[in-house]
Amino acid sequence: MKNLKIFFLSCLKPLRKSIRVNTLKYNTSEFKIFIKNNSFETENIPWCNTGFFINKNNKDSKAIGLTDIHALGGFYIQEASSMLPVEALLENNNLKNKIIGDLTASPGSKSTQIGSKMKGEGVLLTNELSSSRLKSLYSNLERCGVTNSLLTHYDAELLCNILPDTFDYLLLDAPCTGEGTVRKDYKVLENWSKTDAIRMSNLQKKLIVSAFKSLKQGGEMVYSTCTLGKEENSDVVNFLKSKFPNEVDIISLENLFPEAKRVLTKEGFLQVWPHVFDTEGFFVAKIKKKINYETSDKKKTILKNFSFINPNFSEIENIEKLLFDKWQFKKTDNFEWWVRKKEWWLFPKNSKFLFSKIKSDRTGVKIGELHKKGWRTSYEFCSSFGNKCEKNIIEIKKEEVLKVYKGSNLSFTENYLDSEYILIYKNLPVSIGKMKNNIWKNNLPRVLLRDLW
Ligand SMILES: C[S@@+](CC[C@H](N)C(=O)[O-])C[C@H]1O[C@@H](n2cnc3c(N)ncnc32)[C@H](O)[C@@H]1O
Repeated sequence: MKNLKIFFLSCLKPLRKSIRVNTLKYNTSEFKIFIKNNSFETENIPWCNTGFFINKNNKDSKAIGLTDIHALGGFYIQEASSMLPVEALLENNNLKNKIIGDLTASPGSKSTQIGSKMKGEGVLLTNELSSSRLKSLYSNLERCGVTNSLLTHYDAELLCNILPDTFDYLLLDAPCTGEGTVRKDYKVLENWSKTDAIRMSNLQKKLIVSAFKSLKQGGEMVYSTCTLGKEENSDVVNFLKSKFPNEVDIISLENLFPEAKRVLTKEGFLQVWPHVFDTEGFFVAKIKKKINYETSDKKKTILKNFSFINPNFSEIENIEKLLFDKWQFKKTDNFEWWVRKKEWWLFPKNSKFLFSKIKSDRTGVKIGELHKKGWRTSYEFCSSFGNKCEKNIIEIKKEEVLKVYKGSNLSFTENYLDSEYILIYKNLPVSIGKMKNNIWKNNLPRVLLRDLW
């Protein structure tokens, strides 16, 4: 009874803000300096060593989402409890050459979290059913410099049926009634109905069964929701266990972080209530697929109606030389070249077998275009690899970053060649553009233009 009262009182309290540092581009010590300089205070999130609660020191400090460092991909604004599923899925793992799937991914907080743990190694398939939510997923992956992703647009149930025994790790952050988000929006409780919860539960059961089938033998998955009722949480996982009693192994999350026991269920799941850690509510369960049967050898991949081709050795040599001469950029082994007409792309290695089975809306990183008049480097190359380039780079100041985001060209007093240059601020790539008579022509994609501070 006392807990119930504490629970209801916590639902009325505003939610603490939190962020996760995007270690693909930035690091926690730089973040702490940035945050101090901008009158915020931080507190560590106990289950995620790159996650921080942030408080405003004075009411004048503006929204953190409009800062230059956020726009440049230095961090992701993510609710603290929603960092748990990925921490549970990828505890202390070597992710080199792994195939990882995020089945219900938009807007991408967990896909970018997975991406930063993968460090560009392996393949990250990031899927979303809703067409209107695909754009934000893509722009978050691009902003955060996730280079090894394959973006798909399927019903997750269908996708998993096409890809049996495929994934080493899989996240099903299921659509749900969202009871746990009540502190952000009280309407979720006003609009709640038992019928909706049961309808969701039925959908979640279908999704978890197909997700489990698409796990490799020995593979692991996390099922999570931001809701509180057992119909959408433990009932769904127990349903899976009852359907595949000899194949499902529940992995207890009791040691995920020092205080995990406070929210541990008898089955070993985490049911985070909003009042326990002063967060939103979340449910997380970890499941392993036991090794039970021999899988057949992979057949040779045949690509039909695929618009990309692998370039030949000398074409690759020429482009790699061009990129080295221009940017001192060297492709690493975890990518391979693909070409579509004039476009040159880097796809994650070992993703080819997926193209024979599914259609991807976007894979890897577009590096540039080879025209008769010469080579044009893409903005995506700059956003993803700009901080790995060592030539034709110009360090700029904060005021100049703000100008670029307003859409202005920059004029320089130094003498530069008439050529492409990447602008960098605090080791974060800002944009790429052509210099002519020491005026850098702003080429930042229009959708990114905004007033930053
Ligand atoms: C809880 S949200 C995911 C949040 C996301 N994982 C993140 O952390 O940013 C669930 C997502 O699943 C999508 N969705 C709903 N039904 C789906 C289905 N059958 N297949 C794939 N995605 C689906 C919704 O559009 C929504 O974007």
